[in-house]
Amino acid sequence: MRNTVFSGIQPTGTLHIGNYFGAVRQWAALQAEAQCVYCVVDYHALTIDIDPQMLRPASRSMALDLMACGIDPERSILFLQSMVPEHVELSWILGCVTSFGDLSRMTQFKDKSASQEFVSAGLFMYPVLQAADILLYRASGVPVGEDQVQHLELSRRIARRFNGRYGELFPEPEPIVGRGARIMSLANPGIKMSKSAGEQHYIGVMEDRESIRGKVRSAVTDMGLTPGAEMSEGVRTLFEILDLAASDGGGEDDVRALKEEFEAGTLMYSRLKDAVFEAIVKVVEPIQQRRAELEAANVVDDILEEGAARARSIARETISEVRDRVGLG
Ligand code: TYM
Repeated sequence: MRNTVFSGIQPTGTLHIGNYFGAVRQWAALQAEAQCVYCVVDYHALTIDIDPQMLRPASRSMALDLMACGIDPERSILFLQSMVPEHVELSWILGCVTSFGDLSRMTQFKDKSASQEFVSAGLFMYPVLQAADILLYRASGVPVGEDQVQHLELSRRIARRFNGRYGELFPEPEPIVGRGARIMSLANPGIKMSKSAGEQHYIGVMEDRESIRGKVRSAVTDMGLTPGAEMSEGVRTLFEILDLAASDGGGEDDVRALKEEFEAGTLMYSRLKDAVFEAIVKVVEPIQQRRAELEAANVVDDILEEGAARARSIARETISEVRDRVGLG
């Protein structure tokens, strides 16, 4: 039997190139070698202050984005988390084998709760629901960016504790972390690219050319060049994006030439930025085109229904085994 891979993404409205290079590109590639289960995690989104009117369209839109990036519903299972309520049932059960101390140490919880006045129990339990997502499909591999690695370590501990108490059932899921696992903001290369930091801090996969050009042009670099100087964080981020985009869209030779110019201290940053802009556009434009076609074909609802039915049949089997082991029902 093929290994199962699981991953999820929050329906925050739109994908950025950090999500794409750090995670979704790997999701697409893994379809060739594993049974993949990909999920838009709308239950998780309730931990952020999201308008109920917006949540359903945002979830649907994220599913379209994922398909446009190459997630193929013929090969993979693609669905919305809330269409498979077994996620929540398993989350409760796993919460009972999760230590309060472990949850208190999650850096994402510490960061997010520090900036909120109302800190919900849901935000605290967030990593348990994430473990349930993965373990429900008994997945062994989880392609994610670096910021999710700590949550994955916790998922492994939870699996181990469940197996120890109730008998071996769950494989311990391993993170699959590739190149581009931590793309930084171009406006502030000291923080990671994210939507929550604000418009200037991310480049959307669906963003138009001119807006991408503007953001790349205003990227933070440094004062100037001396041969052999160490790369500042901003310039490193530009080169990293260029490398990743060029490996998708071709143009590795140009990247090499620009790196040599940097080493020699002759590189003009405006040329580097133009190259980054061109390379990003080469990656995102075909995705944008596919997205428009998929939207016009009006297939996403049927695909999500079908994906949820397939997910549910696996989820029910796991839940029934879990209930049996723990003595419920
Ligand atoms: P989310 O929605 O914040 O992000 C989705 C994926 O994108 C990666 N990512 C990045 N990678 C590189 N550079 C960046 N700047 C960057 N920003 C985001 C994330 O690491 C992630 O892989 N908790 C998860 C969603 C989730 C999940 C799961 C993931 C829920 N259940 C089960 C895996 C398995 C999250 O909030 O990702």
